[in-house]
Amino acid sequence: MSANPSPPSTPDHRSWPVYRRLLGYSRAYWPVMLVAVFAMALDAACTGGFAAMTEPLLNDALLAKDWDTIRMMPVWILVIFLGRGIGSFVADYCMAAAGRSVIRDLRQQVFEKYLFLPTSYFDQHSQGQMISRLTFNVEQVAEATTNAITVVVRDSLYIIAFLGVMLMQSVRLTLATLVIAPVIALIIAFVSRRFRRLSRKIQDTMGDVTHRASEVVNGHRVVKLYSGQGVEKDRFGAVNASNRRQHLKLVATKSGSASLVQLIAGLTLAFIIFVATRETMLDQITPGAFTAFMTAMLAILPSLKKLTNVHVMIQRGVAAADSLFEVLDSPQEDMVRGQPLTAVRGELEFDNISLSYQPGQAPVLDQVSFTAGPGTVTALVGRSGSGKTSLVSLIPRFYRPTGGQLRLDGLAICSCRLQDLRASIAMVSQDIVLFEDTIAANIAYGSVGPVAEQDIQAAAEQANAMEFINKLPQGLDTRLGEGGVQLSGGQRQRIAIARAILRDAPVLILDEATSALDTESERLIQAALEQVMRARTTLVIAHRLSTVENADQVLVLDQGKLVEQGTHQQLLAQGGHYAELHRLQFQDSPDSPTPARSG
Ligand SMILES: Nc1ncnc2c1ncn2[C@@H]1O[C@H](COP(=O)(O)OP(=O)(O)OP(=O)(O)O)[C@@H](O)[C@H]1O
Ligand SMILES: [Mg+2]
Repeated sequence: MSANPSPPSTPDHRSWPVYRRLLGYSRAYWPVMLVAVFAMALDAACTGGFAAMTEPLLNDALLAKDWDTIRMMPVWILVIFLGRGIGSFVADYCMAAAGRSVIRDLRQQVFEKYLFLPTSYFDQHSQGQMISRLTFNVEQVAEATTNAITVVVRDSLYIIAFLGVMLMQSVRLTLATLVIAPVIALIIAFVSRRFRRLSRKIQDTMGDVTHRASEVVNGHRVVKLYSGQGVEKDRFGAVNASNRRQHLKLVATKSGSASLVQLIAGLTLAFIIFVATRETMLDQITPGAFTAFMTAMLAILPSLKKLTNVHVMIQRGVAAADSLFEVLDSPQEDMVRGQPLTAVRGELEFDNISLSYQPGQAPVLDQVSFTAGPGTVTALVGRSGSGKTSLVSLIPRFYRPTGGQLRLDGLAICSCRLQDLRASIAMVSQDIVLFEDTIAANIAYGSVGPVAEQDIQAAAEQANAMEFINKLPQGLDTRLGEGGVQLSGGQRQRIAIARAILRDAPVLILDEATSALDTESERLIQAALEQVMRARTTLVIAHRLSTVENADQVLVLDQGKLVEQGTHQQLLAQGGHYAELHRLQFQDSPDSPTPARSG
């Protein structure tokens, strides 16, 4: 995907409420912005003053050779430029301070929202989209707030100052100029509209270019193996050419409009000179006044251009803000309300549980009922896609069942305090997540308060992880991830198991927790886990016979249905699904790795 996706466009009638809400974020910083406005006024006054100075410079200093004026001129210039410098510095700095504060606040809010969004939200939105909201969209918001305010205030003040200078020199000439101003404004407005359209198109084609390129870079092995070079070359050629076309259109518009505006400026100039040299005028206006007038008039143009463009800034920012507010307004998980849980025994009861991820779709779990008592081990087996992971993800309420009731210690899970519920669960999931931190911090992740080094070490010991941790340069304090060490799949699993052991929760869920381990390591962990399992309710999704054999009950899932339930021996004797799975998966000696792992 492109790193800079263009924000979705917002219909105009929706813009105002969004913009008002956005301005609410800058309201807290009004004292800083007020200082900025004063600084802008100083800047505009000095800039206008400089244009006005051309009159005494020409009339008194150069033409009349008035020595007082000649002596004072450098001083005035210094004062004026000092004022401009201070004014524009203070204005820029204060506006940036307000803008960056708004960005920080919004970014923090969206990030905190991400922490509490339900799992289904993450299923429906791409990771790239969510991250680019936090990085790219939040930055764009600054455009709409502080940058737009800066342009509106600063350039309006400039225009007022310059108009003041023009009026001071000649009211009639000013009025004559104002006749032409709307024409210039119209041209600028037209050009800027076309500009915006073209920029959006360029952004899109740029996105295509990046997209095609990144697909090839990421999938270079597939492209090589399946000789996809020809197809990829043509597809890239097409987006590349379209990108060039859009750019050329932009250049044509830009330089075309620049020429047009110059022509208009020339016409205005000719018109003003024509008016100014009428005989009645010629007596009224001095060369100095005329020059000052012209200077001020020409200085207005850039500000006028910026002002007519300001709505583009606002539109872009509003579109970005809209997508952020959408995140902020989406419902989040309620961590604190509900029945508090204390001293959880860990009796889990699935009562006729069904689950569909999307409404109207075939159920992934279909009326599953069973009970897992405290201190027992329940093994879940079944083919890939039969619903094992889905079943266990209901327990920490990652998803809510679409039918039936799930109870912990006789209390419906959906009415528990979510914070307490999750605190009573330790889980090693199928895809292991380790953070860019030390091994010790990864094992102690989620523990409240400081954890004693011995406890971390004991957990790592039990998970059979100390053996490889000791070989690392800094032992438990070795950093993982980028710039640190990379662990193998089995090593990662052992860290995750140590994390679950340290959590010491009444419910333990292991989703293929030992699948990436060799027989020897698995045997050691198995022994350790048996210690840990004794005191808690364990659900284990396993592909290894040793785990399943020792389980108190084995549940066989097939296409979301609980098809068999019993101990290993009972199910084997039944000669049904389990016996078949057993024959396919566990046919070798009890401890050998499974030949046909299904997950
Ligand atoms: N987040 C999700 N959104 C929609 N459908 C999903 C989601 N997760 C899983 N599914 C679907 O639910 C079904 C069961 O998936 P699940 O992950 O529970 O299977 P599993 O038994 O754990 O398989 P495996 O042994 O391969 O891990 C699959 O058909 C899958 O496509
Ligand atoms: Mg699974």
